[in-house]
Amino acid sequence: MKNILVTGGAGFIGSHTVVELVNAGYEPVIVDNLSNSLPSAVRGIEKIIDKKVKFFKMDFENIPALKKIIKTEKIDGVIHFAAFKAVGESTEQPLKYYRNNVSGLIELLSLLSNENIPLVFSSSCTVYGEPDKLPVDENTPTKPAESPYGATKQMDEMMLSDVVKASKNFRAISLRYFNPVGAHPSGLIGELPLGKPSNLFPVVTQALAGTGGQLTVFGNDYDTPDGSCIRDYIHVVDLAKAHIKALELLSKQKDRYYDVFNVGNGKGNSVLEVISTFEKTTGLKVPHKIGARRPGDVVAIYANCSKANNELNWKTEKTLEDACRDAWKWQKNITYPQESS
Ligand code: NAD
Ligand code: WQD
Repeated sequence: MKNILVTGGAGFIGSHTVVELVNAGYEPVIVDNLSNSLPSAVRGIEKIIDKKVKFFKMDFENIPALKKIIKTEKIDGVIHFAAFKAVGESTEQPLKYYRNNVSGLIELLSLLSNENIPLVFSSSCTVYGEPDKLPVDENTPTKPAESPYGATKQMDEMMLSDVVKASKNFRAISLRYFNPVGAHPSGLIGELPLGKPSNLFPVVTQALAGTGGQLTVFGNDYDTPDGSCIRDYIHVVDLAKAHIKALELLSKQKDRYYDVFNVGNGKGNSVLEVISTFEKTTGLKVPHKIGARRPGDVVAIYANCSKANNELNWKTEKTLEDACRDAWKWQKNITYPQESS
């Protein structure tokens, strides 16, 4: 496998994965419609890798165009990041999410399974809902989705499993990401919320930068050691590297193959711990107040990643401190230029 199509490659996780693909000797080809990213992400990637990257600004579900790219670029594998991911928005505009995240994948899968091109798919810890037991491993039962976004990821996983089962030798892996955070240590790419962020890290870095008001901690009366919610925060560069390992595993499979892997750091950190780690690494105070619980938040979730450690031969190398330092470095570099794509 050499030439890898990366849908959503201009986005947060996609852009970091494109860099790691190049570091590992692959030739990435980005397809992204820039619905939630800017052309500057592609320029950031090019600065890091010090060469041009192939980039097609288009919808991934434009199948005739995608088919052409797969042929002309001699694509050997696909990493599919392109999707919408805002949990709150998905409750207000569910069809937008079912269309992009589910219908889009149906189109993509019919093409890839026909052409027998292996796929790495972006799934999410959201499929577990509020777990009964921690840490969660891949056998932990999934719970009814808390949001249309969560439902799309559950449906996507089901479709992948069924399509592989019905095929002769189609291969796919779903990676269940926990909470991806941080940025490339160069400060040239990172998470770029277009509009008001809702995820903890960009809310904190904007509060630190003085551009986003203060952070509201959503509840300090949970049944956790310090009362705030616990999550498994994984540095985006570690997460990006898991995709390379997934491609390697897929390339070794001769028959049809589908599996799911948790990708987290295996440790739970509370919201208050994240705040204190930001304060320690930046030397700044995070302006914050304690507020009400956010509806739909699970109390605590973190991953057992033994399966990815053993079968993908992958492990994390970075810490929460690294993630806070890198996210802050990136925040200081963010500009939202008037760009025409
Ligand atoms: P992102 O929004 O930064 O990146 C997604 C990219 O896909 C964007 O650049 C967007 O422009 C593009 N895109 C969306 N729909 C498209 C379409 N129809 N055609 C072409 N391009 C399209 O999101 P991210 O954080 O990098 O997430 C990537 C994937 O990982 C998503 O599938 C998301 O659901 C999943 N995921 C994200 C998180 C997280 O917290 N960031 C956690 C778990 C899973
Ligand atoms: C983290 C913690 C909040 C903002 C989401 C999706 C999930 C997955 C990852 C895609 C929680 C607290 C946050 C704020 C806060 N994405 N918080 N104040 O909700 O764990 O997961 O992203 O698949 O599906 O739901 O991430 O970053 O929003 O929140 O106190 O202003 O920070 O309560 O405990 P979440 P998050």
